[in-house]
Amino acid sequence: MKALILVGGFGTRLRPLTLSLPKPLVEFGNRPMIAHQIEALAQAGVTDIVLAVNYRPEVMTAALKKYEEQYNVKIEFSVETEPLGTAGPLKLAEKILGRGDEPFFVLNSDVICEYPFQQLAEFHKQHGQEGTIVVTKVEEPSKYGVIVHKPDHPSRIDRFVEKPVEFVGNRINAGIYILNPSVLSRIELRPTSIEQETFPAMVTDGELHSFDLDGFWMDVGQPKDFLSGTCLYLSSLAKKNSKALASTSESWVHGGNVMVDESAKIGKNCKIGPNVVIGPNVVIGDGVRLQRCVLLQGSKVKEHAWVKSTIVGWNSTIGRWARMENVSVLGDDVTIGDEVYCNGASVLPHKSIKQNVDVPAIIM
Ligand code: GDD
Ligand code: MG
Repeated sequence: MKALILVGGFGTRLRPLTLSLPKPLVEFGNRPMIAHQIEALAQAGVTDIVLAVNYRPEVMTAALKKYEEQYNVKIEFSVETEPLGTAGPLKLAEKILGRGDEPFFVLNSDVICEYPFQQLAEFHKQHGQEGTIVVTKVEEPSKYGVIVHKPDHPSRIDRFVEKPVEFVGNRINAGIYILNPSVLSRIELRPTSIEQETFPAMVTDGELHSFDLDGFWMDVGQPKDFLSGTCLYLSSLAKKNSKALASTSESWVHGGNVMVDESAKIGKNCKIGPNVVIGPNVVIGDGVRLQRCVLLQGSKVKEHAWVKSTIVGWNSTIGRWARMENVSVLGDDVTIGDEVYCNGASVLPHKSIKQNVDVPAIIM
């Protein structure tokens, strides 16, 4: 089977991380977000993956070619000269996706869950219509695409409303689809939105169905959700007794759900967890307290720092006795001084912070 992953867009909501790396390459659970998707697609029998890129394609190509071998799939890049939105890229890749009459998967690159590709493909074949979208329930649906059903039908969609201003329901588009090649003839080669144009037209024709997702789901394209998604992902690994988590018998593990790369160094008398991801070559000093945070590759947390609800960017340093909280995000190579307090600070790459950030702010 074939799949297309939408890896364009500028990832502005995940700044300052996306100032250094395209969103799909930002590590989630110590692996680029997109690696989770490529792996799951390969496991479901997908052999051809198209990556629809419009932003820094050379960085993507270099990083992703290695997955071809690792997961035994063919990865092709479809590069847009102008951003084509969420539907245009499908048309641009028509030669690949339209080969044969088999349906293909489409994915947003920032959604994390236990991808149900096999069951989705079976369900799609059973109902026989043009498209199926995966749906999940959320409490705050306004920042997603919301779907409403036909009252007399369990899965046929009656309305699709992208980013509704008024409440229409809480079942949302999870950003994972399976579509027949015939859908390609509904799309023009121009910047166009699958959510605003293609889906509503398919709904009118009664050709769009929904498939309910089991388990956790999160769009991790914003720092707050990236941290929430990390908690959900680590909990799901804990339920499966995954070896990817540090053993709760370690003296420094507190409350479980801690993932530590084997090259990281942890000092004495630390208290780490729950919900912490520690990347490669991270160095943690003595007496550090970490909870609900992600420390990306090469970062350092010095003695007695206290870090909560924070993403520490690559090669950044947090000083001694510093205190970080409330969705603080450090870009690449940031330095937080000793004893500095950061409350919801979003710090751009290469900055050095010597004063407290008492209220949430972007530090440029
Ligand atoms: N190739 C390409 N070109 N990809 C793009 C472009 C583009 O011009 N614009 C956006 N994308 C990609 C993004 O990288 C992302 O993977 C996906 O399209 C969706 O864009 P987002 O910017 O993340 O959209 P969203 O999160 O506001 O909403 C979408 O996702 C929700 C689920 O997380 C919609 O599909 C909603 O309906 C959905 O509920
Ligand atoms: Mg998104």
